[in-house]
Amino acid sequence: MSFKCISVQRDGAVERLALNRPDVRNAFDDEMIRELTWWADSVAKDPGVRVVVLSGAGAVYSAGADLRWMARMASYSREQNLQDATDVARLFLAIDRLPVPIISRVHGAALGGGVGLCAVSDVVVAADDAVFGLTEVKLGLIPAVIAPFVLAKIGRSAARELFLTGARFSAARAASLNLVHAVVPAAALDDTVNRYVEDVLAAAPGAVAAAKALIAEVARRDPHEAGMLTAEAISTRRVSAEGQEGMRAFLEKRKPKWASKEA
Ligand code: COA
Repeated sequence: MSFKCISVQRDGAVERLALNRPDVRNAFDDEMIRELTWWADSVAKDPGVRVVVLSGAGAVYSAGADLRWMARMASYSREQNLQDATDVARLFLAIDRLPVPIISRVHGAALGGGVGLCAVSDVVVAADDAVFGLTEVKLGLIPAVIAPFVLAKIGRSAARELFLTGARFSAARAASLNLVHAVVPAAALDDTVNRYVEDVLAAAPGAVAAAKALIAEVARRDPHEAGMLTAEAISTRRVSAEGQEGMRAFLEKRKPKWASKEA
């Protein structure tokens, strides 16, 4: 598929995805949502990809939903409008469930759905002058389909403050809310992202995927219920080829050798 609204570059096992509508600050409309959904579905099935880096072309990471597109909804039927919103929800879910880590590189601004994209990322590196905000209420809207993902990151208290005021906040505040993991000068963004990429590439691919899946499973269970699941997960993993190779390499004081993706 050829893309108009995103750009994709494969660099070894690293998939570099950029939102590419700089004229509207990488706001997403139905076309970008279609392209991103197609991309997410294909990356999820691609054994050659071990990590994704998500960034924005131009001045900002993402200004969220395209307000011209949202305003056009007034001329849609209720069914079309709901279908459209369901497509957006499906996209966020697809990105959230990608089996490989997704690292967001945030510069300029992440607003509305841009915060949602941060919330479905595994690692977020932000420039110290980047601005964040769940600005929807200022536009007469609400942060809806992104709510589960943002709430899971920042918790109910901060959501009540930030969803209800629409206030913009700094990268430092975003880090204090666990939305962002590293705040660095803009000039250090790429190096910091690359260090995270190198860490992922040095780890066992199957273990990374299993750890990501485990977080999602454990997060929606109480500790009692999760106990059996976690015991099963580690008992499988410690006898796996990767587990055996990783432990043996440590004990033999050498670097582990990973197969590209473990069955
Ligand atoms: N939807 C549609 N168009 C958008 C947009 C959005 N979410 N965000 C920005 N744009 C458009 C602007 O309308 C403008 O278009 P124009 O050139 O035709 O006038 C263009 O992008 C540049 O915007 P501008 O505000 O001049 O750029 P900036 O670099 O000074 O500021 C932002 C960038 C992202 C900080 C600012 O545009 C902004 O606050 N946008 C609103 C984002 C928002 O609240 N999103 C929540 C959506 S639910």
